[in-house]
Amino acid sequence: MCKALVAGNWKMHGTTGSAVSLASQLNQDWAQNNAAEMIIFPPFVHISAVRSVIGEGAISIGAQNISQYSDGAYTGEVSAEMLLDQGCKYVLVGHSERRAVMGESDQMVAEKFKVAQDSGLTPILCVGESLKQRQQGETVAVVSAQIDAVIELVGLSNVCRAVIAYEPVWAIGTGETASPQQAQQVHHAIRAQLGEAGRSTTLLYGGSVKASNAAELFAQPDINGGLVGGASLEADEFLNIAKLIEA
Ligand code: PGA
Repeated sequence: MCKALVAGNWKMHGTTGSAVSLASQLNQDWAQNNAAEMIIFPPFVHISAVRSVIGEGAISIGAQNISQYSDGAYTGEVSAEMLLDQGCKYVLVGHSERRAVMGESDQMVAEKFKVAQDSGLTPILCVGESLKQRQQGETVAVVSAQIDAVIELVGLSNVCRAVIAYEPVWAIGTGETASPQQAQQVHHAIRAQLGEAGRSTTLLYGGSVKASNAAELFAQPDINGGLVGGASLEADEFLNIAKLIEA
């Protein structure tokens, strides 16, 4: 069975104080027996402070990025081992902001995925098409090529052990959400691409998820949870979204 997940991507927001305050509000409310596992992704510099608030409790912690290198002279980079040392269990790879703004290629994303998984972290592989690609009818081709690049490096069964987040680029931070039907169509195509081995792979939807649109999205048969950006910065809103996920 697919694991139900709700992930909060805090992006480059907040101070130590605001991160700790948000984490403790979530921690007070979120119990282990909720249907979904909650993961929060603070900026690197706040991971340690957030960890001391959430401890070993119901909320898991992840990082927004990882170096494709394991150790050495890579100024400014953060390795898998460092993330594990900070208590991270998950890491986002291939977020569209990193692909578009930081120039991460499919190959680099695949290498990051491999380093993360080999070290024991669970990668959340983010994929998605631009508005232009959607308008040209290329959505499924683009998404499947992004996934294929990782399959080529690590093999299908390893991709199926990870989590995949479908995030249409045009829906991220724009207030525009894919309709539940649009999202389900792409999730279904991803599930088909993964084949038998992907029947229990957790597939998340991301892109302007809010409490007001989450229920319909999460009700789709191939959507197992959400990757939430802006709305994860408000404790009540994020908790309301998280509670809409059924196991
Ligand atoms: P958003 O971001 O919810 O603010 O659209 C989602 C994401 O970037 O993961």
